[in-house]
Amino acid sequence: MRIISHRGASGYAPENTLKAFELAVKTGSRDFEFDVHRTRDGRLVVHHDYDLSRTAGSPARIAELDYAELSRLNAAAHFAADPAFQRVPLLEEVLDLVGPAADWINFEVKNDGGVYPGIESELLAALNSRPGLFGKSLVSSFDHDTLRRFRALSPELRLGWLGHGLSELLLAPAVLKARAVRAENFHLALRIAFRPNIALLKKAGFSVCVYTVNSRKDALRMEEIGVDGIFSNYPDIMGREA
Ligand code: G3P
Ligand code: MG
Repeated sequence: MRIISHRGASGYAPENTLKAFELAVKTGSRDFEFDVHRTRDGRLVVHHDYDLSRTAGSPARIAELDYAELSRLNAAAHFAADPAFQRVPLLEEVLDLVGPAADWINFEVKNDGGVYPGIESELLAALNSRPGLFGKSLVSSFDHDTLRRFRALSPELRLGWLGHGLSELLLAPAVLKARAVRAENFHLALRIAFRPNIALLKKAGFSVCVYTVNSRKDALRMEEIGVDGIFSNYPDIMGREA
């Protein structure tokens, strides 16, 4: 089972900052997930939320800031254990750090309602700009129109369907939609990661990854029911006590 560092080693360092990615690499992560947005002046950046309210205490929206402005906000301000200044990193900087170490990188594109028009071709250009990167990349999104656009642009790109608010009843239609974009992965929340759901998704041919798994007990349960990968804020989760 893949242990995917979720937003870097975000249990130990401020999520989606260079510090969190450095730590993930240093502690041996080979599988990475992070969230991609775009600034007003067209820079692809790594951050979870669409704005900086939670992380930096500023309601500024990434789409409405130039990178020079965004980079003055402290994305670590919310992380009580280590609030020392960390800016929102450029995608390029994250790739410089994790690229050489990575076996697999999940770019989660945050593009609800198409807030970043054209981000699909820009990310594809970034994936093709470094030797070997495209082959170890997988793009996922909660915005399924975004996945459809990625598929229209690239027949080969590996896609992951992100289940949002899925109940067991909705899983079967989601499988059909995920198949329609030829997703190879299906990512679902821990709260619905039960054996029958995993079995259904595996039978449908998907690699199944579960988010976010932060206790060793849950990690072992996921392994037991046949999950292929877990997103964890603690990439050392299998060696942890709880
Ligand atoms: O990509 C898996 C997981 O990160 C999806 O949820 O909200 O943590 O980005 P979120
Ligand atoms: Mg994510």
